[in-house]
Amino acid sequence: METNRSLNLKFIKGSIFFIAILFACSESASSNNEENVLPLDPFEQNKLLAKTINLGNALEAENEGEWGIVLQEDYFQIIAEAGFTAVRVPCRWSAHVQNAKPYTLYSGFLSRVQWVLKQAEKYGLATIINIQHFEEIFESPAQEKEKFLAIWAQLAEKFRSQGTDVFYEILNEPHDNLTAELWNVYLKDAVDVIRQIDTVHTVIIGTAEWGGITAMNKLLLPQNEKNLIFTFHYYSPFEFTHQGAEWVENSEAWLGTTWMGSASEISAITSEFSTVKQWSVERNVPVFLGEFGAYSMADMPSRERWTNSVARIAESEGFSWAYWEFAAGFGVYDLSSNTWREELLKALIP
Ligand code: GLC
Repeated sequence: METNRSLNLKFIKGSIFFIAILFACSESASSNNEENVLPLDPFEQNKLLAKTINLGNALEAENEGEWGIVLQEDYFQIIAEAGFTAVRVPCRWSAHVQNAKPYTLYSGFLSRVQWVLKQAEKYGLATIINIQHFEEIFESPAQEKEKFLAIWAQLAEKFRSQGTDVFYEILNEPHDNLTAELWNVYLKDAVDVIRQIDTVHTVIIGTAEWGGITAMNKLLLPQNEKNLIFTFHYYSPFEFTHQGAEWVENSEAWLGTTWMGSASEISAITSEFSTVKQWSVERNVPVFLGEFGAYSMADMPSRERWTNSVARIAESEGFSWAYWEFAAGFGVYDLSSNTWREELLKALIP
């Protein structure tokens, strides 16, 4: 017959076991233990991206710092405290990969991105990692395809055990020889490669022809993939948002272009966004406006009006959004004074 003492001991052991299980479960909620994660609902996932900011000009340069931004831990805290929910991290993987098979990614850059994910997690921000500025694939798609898929295989392997608030965006702004038709094939192959390794994380897919709305009707989303979000970029009117942009030919001719928020200016946005909405409803996919912003050469009151209008119209359509970008040429944050540009911040998060 068992003594009270041994019954107590059993009870204590049982409780410890139970508590251990509880811990294990709560652990898997934040740092995903793949087997235990149910298929994610992309509409729920998209809520995590509600108010995103692009960490532009940092890891999208060939070497971080060359475009003026080196990511710091306090940026993540500043961003979270301002009310943003996520960061999109454009990464130029093509500058950090072996040029021959098996196209191994350099461990230094992988660790740097891992560090970014850790900072974001620490401050409660979801993270999108993408492939940005893969210029070679836009020039010679067939030649670069294997490298492109090898990059995704390695990223999926590296990040598969991250929390479910990490998102994979397949490729930023496909264009030129990576035509809309080819892109439909490449994106499906990339999703297949990812899913062979990582069945959990939500993927984000955008349009060809520079990521805008024009190629939306040519885009074919993979039929068997439900855990995906559609993304598009919005910089219209381009003469306004890109006036004086050094990387856009003849854009100095547009200097002085204003955006007053007139009825016709607003309805241009409304009607384009409602087309996107309709397209997404027909396909039952959530929408993420992954980039929008007006360059600092435009006047501030116009930038404020435009930014506020685009963000509000996106929200009214149920789109999550990501402002382009944190602290460089379009920056909502001023690194020289370590302050937010309040007008722009309020335009984003009133
Ligand atoms: C694209 C480019 C980025 C540029 C932005 C605005 O995302 O990749 O370098 O700053 O568009 O033009």
